[in-house]
Amino acid sequence: MKVDVLLGLQWGDEGKGKVVDVLTPRYDVVARFQGGPNAGHTLEFEGKKYVLRSIPSGIFQDGQINIIGNGVVLDPILFRKEAEELLASGIDLRKVLKISRKAHLILPTHRILDAALERAKGGAKIGTTGKGIGPTYTDKISRNGLRLGDALLPDWHQRYEAARNRHLAILAPMGENPDITEIEKEWLDAIDYLRNYDIIDSEHYINRLLAESKSVLCEGAQGTMLDVDFGSYPFVTSSNTITAGACAGLGVAPNKIGEVFGIFKAYCTRVGSGPFPTELHDETGKRIRDLGHEYGAVTGRERRCGWIDLVALRYAIMIDGVTQLIMMKSDVLDGFDEIKACTAYKIDGKLTTEFPYSVDGIDIEPVYTTLPGWKTDMTGMKSEDEFPQQFRDYITFLERELGAPITIVSIGPDREQTIERAKA
Ligand code: GDP
Ligand code: IMO
Ligand code: MG
Repeated sequence: MKVDVLLGLQWGDEGKGKVVDVLTPRYDVVARFQGGPNAGHTLEFEGKKYVLRSIPSGIFQDGQINIIGNGVVLDPILFRKEAEELLASGIDLRKVLKISRKAHLILPTHRILDAALERAKGGAKIGTTGKGIGPTYTDKISRNGLRLGDALLPDWHQRYEAARNRHLAILAPMGENPDITEIEKEWLDAIDYLRNYDIIDSEHYINRLLAESKSVLCEGAQGTMLDVDFGSYPFVTSSNTITAGACAGLGVAPNKIGEVFGIFKAYCTRVGSGPFPTELHDETGKRIRDLGHEYGAVTGRERRCGWIDLVALRYAIMIDGVTQLIMMKSDVLDGFDEIKACTAYKIDGKLTTEFPYSVDGIDIEPVYTTLPGWKTDMTGMKSEDEFPQQFRDYITFLERELGAPITIVSIGPDREQTIERAKA
């Protein structure tokens, strides 16, 4: 009986998809517990690259069951596209995937609302992925949502029409009167398509598996600094991306959680608006973006880049109860003379190592420790014995600052470019 959780500790895109794929053979089940197609999880192996949005990253290994939990919001059109592309690559999801009856549905009008609400915010916009995430979770919390299980009920069409009409009535006074005839048809067809899947009471199912001593890996989406409660509010997503979100989003009790893998980049990125204390607006930021190919997997937007922020990371590790750290994209810094790490913030002349209430609209000066770069191409390395001394020193420094062991280091996008470290 074991539920391990893997989640992003920064502002998303840490490399969760890659590591879930690497860890999957050790588990019986891989489950998504929150978020939706705002996620873009990239996996690379055997010269091929895949980007998953709503589907767990365990599907490429043999024999695991994959679950989309109740905490996820599902867009039937995007799900169908994703599933059909995978089928073309020889993966029949219907054999390996189960979906919670309680997962909330993203309607076409949720996406229109997302865009309209962003437009209305003008310069204060969040820079959402435009996938209808905020409006769908809003409906869930205000008890107006539609769940996948509703599509199996006899009065489904009335339920759908009532929800759609409510959305259209919100949009009209905003000057938005969209013609949804086409997209609605495509969406309802995609609902029919979804009926071919195993739609289950996943909380019962997963607890039954746990009672049979099966192991579960929960795959987080987004990152802790995008969590609706603890992230850089209001520039966050609309779900709980933290460890506790795995309990609520799957129906597993907190005392079932085992290891918590916290994943972070050797530097830091953010996409969309909102505060980012260590952001670099200079050549170094551009260099990280170019070397790390830091462009969004979902929207193609440029990711903002900066140095690693240990104040924010320590906060995330505390909230998540991280037991093991995973450092990604170390290779991106291979050519740098110096590496910087932010160890404290200076706010109004005062030093703090605690992540403050708000980091938006206030003057934060990051305080940096500078470490020598390792100036070595690590992308072909096979074991930690090959790591250059300066890189070992960077790891030791981070472990000391963060108070948790770095057990996996990633040195390239491919499945094979993953090095496990011996535990001390
Ligand atoms: P996720 O959303 O957390 O799954 O991360 P994304 O897939 O959005 O972004 C991570 C990007 O970095 C993807 O393009 C990966 O292929 C790539 N990547 C993952 N690990 C590494 C690594 O160690 N080195 C390099 N250079 N790229 C990596
Ligand atoms: P993965 O799982 C990075 C960001 C958006 C925006 C904010 C709110 O690939 O790490 P939303 O559409 O969720 O309402 O947007 O959150 N965002 C992400 N940034 N990676 C993600 O997912 C993200 N999902 C949402 O850019 O700033
Ligand atoms: Mg991503």
